[in-house]
Amino acid sequence: MKNKVDVVLGLQWGDEGKGKIVDVLAAAYPAVARFQGGPNAGHSLQFDGKSFVVRSIPSGIFREGSENIIGNGVVLDPLAFREECRSVAAMGIVPEKRIAISTKAHLILPTHRLLDAVKEAAAGKGKIGSTLKGIGPAYTDKISRQGLRTGDCLTPGFVQKFGEHTAKHLETIKLIAEGAGLDIPALEDKVFGCSLAQYTASWLEAVEFLKGFRLVNCEYFVSSLLERTPLLAEGAQGSLLDIDYGSYPFVTSSNTTCGGVCTGLGVPPSAVGKVFGIFKAYCTRVGSGPFPTELNDSTGEELRRIGHEFGAVTGRPRRTGWLDLVALKYSVMVNGVTHLIMMKSDCLDTFSAIKACTSYKVKGVVTEELPFDLADAEPVYTEFPGWQQDLTGARSFSELPARFTEYIDFIEGYIGVPVKIISLGPDREATIER
Ligand code: IMO
Ligand code: MG
Repeated sequence: MKNKVDVVLGLQWGDEGKGKIVDVLAAAYPAVARFQGGPNAGHSLQFDGKSFVVRSIPSGIFREGSENIIGNGVVLDPLAFREECRSVAAMGIVPEKRIAISTKAHLILPTHRLLDAVKEAAAGKGKIGSTLKGIGPAYTDKISRQGLRTGDCLTPGFVQKFGEHTAKHLETIKLIAEGAGLDIPALEDKVFGCSLAQYTASWLEAVEFLKGFRLVNCEYFVSSLLERTPLLAEGAQGSLLDIDYGSYPFVTSSNTTCGGVCTGLGVPPSAVGKVFGIFKAYCTRVGSGPFPTELNDSTGEELRRIGHEFGAVTGRPRRTGWLDLVALKYSVMVNGVTHLIMMKSDCLDTFSAIKACTSYKVKGVVTEELPFDLADAEPVYTEFPGWQQDLTGARSFSELPARFTEYIDFIEGYIGVPVKIISLGPDREATIER
């Protein structure tokens, strides 16, 4: 292969600003691919005074002439995808011309969404805080070799097969609902805003819509593309939500880390080039699970307010906390990050002191390693004086205040990887490259 696959990954618990960075970097990449996750992602882009959130469509879609690939590692909900395509089309882009989809990408069925909801409702306090997009159940079927793939849509027996899958799911849904005393019609209404039958009819229409796209043998497609152009792989979620390396079981159901690029697109490890790792200058998390540096106080509220930390997919307020350098270094190690990208530093402009977690105390012992259960980690902080200056207008590194650049020097020293891009606002233009 003449060209490389460069990768953009979130290094925290998602919502690091991957959409903006992929959109900025996409100017140099004729092709962008998603390799895992599904519509649980919400990647926000802002340009020309407009803002947009993509979920299953790669964030390269708004770059003139780009090729956008949905790889086999993704789980695709045809109905959510159709909605997204319609909003893209409203902006003058013809999605059918610009998106190619792997025939091996698994489908999210309506009953996967219902299963997600019934399992979460039955779990009570132990719930994951899933986005309820059916992600976990769709990947469960994939791994247990019972899934349906986009390529199946093209086969004559598809609707019948779909019916069989639905019936099997409904048996499980009934069992769980009965055990937890849950009312299924009420649940259907909550998840779909209508009955399962009504929703299914629209879903099947959306399958027809899906057939209007190029359904490709992704491995060959990507391989021949790499002979001509470089490719940018766009991660969804973050490393700390990875099924293997995240804060299990409070994770998503895919490999969000770099290895997922190979299995989710069909490219060999030797094809991977640069690995861009994105992190926010502080941390956020939506859903349940351990979060060592979480701030349940007025500082945390201040971060949420300044950073507009509310979910792009679910609207939920995000939990907020100080930057966790121990966790960040772990993510950099697992992914082999070559370039760090720091987001939303401007959200710390008004703070007189800024903290970063530089070690953990685990059962009384100080360590710089992530413990088996992240819930055991108590943060040990290093404090920095705030720069207390508005960063948003800066367009070159030399314009940045010394206290801020010293803070970046510290981060680079701790992690051992350079911070190559600093983002100081949601717009494409508010980006400094070094
Ligand atoms: P982007 O790509 C933040 C979280 C959910 C929940 C857990 C499991 O926008 O960064 P799931 O629906 O995947 O089964 O939920 O993962 N989660 C995200 N958090 N950003 C995301 O995506 C997320 N996708 C899933 O809140 O805690
Ligand atoms: Mg998100």
